[in-house]
Amino acid sequence: MEISRVGVIGLGTMGAGIAQVAVTAGYETVAREVTMELAERGRSTIEHYLGRAVEKGKLAADERDAARGRLTLTTELADLADCDLVIEAVLEELELKREVFEELDRLTRPEAVLATNTSALSVCEIAEATEHPERVVGMHFFNPAPVLPLVEIVRAQRSSDAAVEAAYDWAERAGKRPVRCNDTPGFIVNRILIPLLNDCVRVLDEAGVTPEGLDTAMTSGAGWPMGPCALVDLIGIDVHVHASEALHAALGEERMAPPERLLEMQEAGHLGRKTGQGFYTY
Ligand SMILES: NC(=O)c1ccc[n+]([C@@H]2O[C@H](COP(=O)([O-])OP(=O)(O)OC[C@H]3O[C@@H](n4cnc5c(N)ncnc54)[C@H](O)[C@@H]3O)[C@@H](O)[C@H]2O)c1
Repeated sequence: MEISRVGVIGLGTMGAGIAQVAVTAGYETVAREVTMELAERGRSTIEHYLGRAVEKGKLAADERDAARGRLTLTTELADLADCDLVIEAVLEELELKREVFEELDRLTRPEAVLATNTSALSVCEIAEATEHPERVVGMHFFNPAPVLPLVEIVRAQRSSDAAVEAAYDWAERAGKRPVRCNDTPGFIVNRILIPLLNDCVRVLDEAGVTPEGLDTAMTSGAGWPMGPCALVDLIGIDVHVHASEALHAALGEERMAPPERLLEMQEAGHLGRKTGQGFYTY
C-alpha cells in the first residue's frame, strides 16, 4: 500500500522526533497534540533540530524549508482521517492508548495502518480496542528518533502481513533500519538491554567500582561505544525504571526489577542528563 500522508499523535520527545523523520523524508505529516501550545512547542523542537542539521551540513536550507512546510498541527484526531499511516506516541498508559486507537479506527480509512510506539505495553492489547486489529502494528523508534536508525516493527497476534510490510517499507523509505519481531515484552532491544543495564548498576555496589570506573571498564574492555552509567543518564533514570518495572511485571525475573540505587536516584530527582544530575553531573 502506498503511504503518502502520515499522522503522528503526541509531539513529546518521541512524537516530535518521529514527525521530524517523516517530514524530512518527504511525507506530508499531520501532528496532533492535546493543546495548540504543546503542538507549537513540538514544532519548535522539530525546527530547532532541522536547523542544527543545516548547520552541520546534513541538510540543505531549502530542504529544511520544504520539511517545515510538510508539517501541519492540529488538536483534532479527525484531521488525521486521510492519513495512510498513523503513528501514536502518547504517554505510556494502556487505557489512553486504547482510547486513541478506538477513535482512530473509527476515523481513518480501513486500509490505513495504525502503529503504536509503545516501549513496554502489549501491542495486542492496544489492537484489541479496535474493530480492525489486523491493521495495528508496533513501530518502536529509539530516542532520539531522528538519530538512531532502528525501528522495531512489531507483529501483534492479529496483525496482517500487509500492515507489517507497509510499516516496514515506510520505515525503510524514511531512512530507518527496520527489524521485524513478535509482540513479546520488551521486543528485542529493551528485553536485552534493560536487565543488562540493571546488572551494570548492581555491579557498582557489588564490585565497589565508581560510575567512571564501570564506564571505562565496559568501553575499554567490552568495546561498548558508551558506558552503561552514561547510557542510563541519557535514557533518563525514570524512563529506565518505568521500563524495568514493566518488564519485571511481564516476565517476573529478578534481573528485570529496577535496582535500589536507581529507585533512590529517582526519589531524589536525579534523573540523568535532563535534570543535570544522574551518575554524572551535567
Ligand atoms: N522516551 C523514550 O526514550 C522512548 C523510546 C521509545 C518509545 N517511547 C514510547 O513513546 C511514547 C511517548 O513517550 P515520550 O517519551 O515521547 O513521552 P512524552 O512525555 O515526551 O510525550 C507524551 C505525549 O503524550 C501526550 N499526552 C499526554 N496526555 C495525553 C492525553 N490525555 N491524551 C493524548 N495525548 C496525551 C503529550 O501531550 C505528549 O505529546 C510512550 O509510549 C513511550 O513508552 C519512549
